[in-house]
Amino acid sequence: MMNEDFTILGIESTCDETSAALLKGGREIIANVIYSQIEEHKKYHGVVPELASRAHAAKIASVIREALGSHKLDYVAFASGPGLPGGLMVGRVAAQTLANFKKVPIIGVNHLEGHIFACDFEGTAVKNRLQFPLVALVVSGGHTELWYVKDYGIYKVLGKTRDDAAGEAFDKVAKLLGLAYPGGPQVSKQALLGRRDAIDFPRPLLPGTWDFSFSGIKTAVSYYLRDHKQVSVPDVCASFETAMVDTLVMKTLLAARKYKVRHIAVGGGVAANTLLRERMQEAAQKQGIETHFVDRKLSSDNAAMIALAAYKKLAYAQKTGKPVKENIDIDPNMKVRSWAK
Ligand code: KG4
Ligand code: ZN
Repeated sequence: MMNEDFTILGIESTCDETSAALLKGGREIIANVIYSQIEEHKKYHGVVPELASRAHAAKIASVIREALGSHKLDYVAFASGPGLPGGLMVGRVAAQTLANFKKVPIIGVNHLEGHIFACDFEGTAVKNRLQFPLVALVVSGGHTELWYVKDYGIYKVLGKTRDDAAGEAFDKVAKLLGLAYPGGPQVSKQALLGRRDAIDFPRPLLPGTWDFSFSGIKTAVSYYLRDHKQVSVPDVCASFETAMVDTLVMKTLLAARKYKVRHIAVGGGVAANTLLRERMQEAAQKQGIETHFVDRKLSSDNAAMIALAAYKKLAYAQKTGKPVKENIDIDPNMKVRSWAK
């Protein structure tokens, strides 16, 4: 292909969304079909891997068919990690089958890169909003990571969660309170009715590292519930959400200052959280730092972000004349790795 006008079909199946998307010329999302498995997992208050694999296997073909329609395609991209092994396998087999059938190359991409690159979308258009260097905060149900990003494809991982991911902490606290899964939106909704300073939950900063730890906040909530007969669910939600958000904002801003960046990007399911968006924006602005949040519609798992991550890699390869190595091995614990110089 001599220009960058290629069409990519992306596939996402790392967790509990089965998704396929068509991205044209790194400019425009033509389709982004998402089948959410929430109903399958709801009664367990979390993702059940075996059920997730089965649902991916059942839905992937129809999701791809709907996204592709009668369009032609130049590449198939799929999220090859990190994620649940069963889902990753379904995504890979689907991607390989389609690529073989259509006689196009296949490219595996890192799901977490997708979450950050998703900040480049404005509606369905690719607007390349990210400005580098930046500090990226990936906050989802399965991951919480802080990166220094010099440019597309040049990363230094600064820290990760040592226990629960931020979204997981929201989900577990929601479960303790008898709220529905996924917990993040429910906790946020309740929090609007509560007092943010009602209960002083910890803000674990782990000085000297960029790592996070959220299990302490979750445990503090469970002790509070154990020790109090009468609790105000809105107060617990408001105080918990504030402790989570304060911790995320403080650490991200410390990293931004330390690495002297003027831009922060926030992606992943928890990036939909209104308090996080407001407090991060406000605190960053005070330091002259610009914040780039993913659009709420694309914060959760979706294949458009996977297609865009593939596009960035392919465009870079084309610019530099270095072919992208075709690596389609899946890796449930995949780390983010630099692919540009
Ligand atoms: O990125 P995502 O769709 O899936 C993973 O890759 O893990 O993130 C899902 C997570 C869930 O834990 C959900 O509770 C959380 O994102 N989440 C939120 C909000 N909306 C979704 N957490 C806090 N506030 C929200 N508004
Ligand atoms: Zn995700």
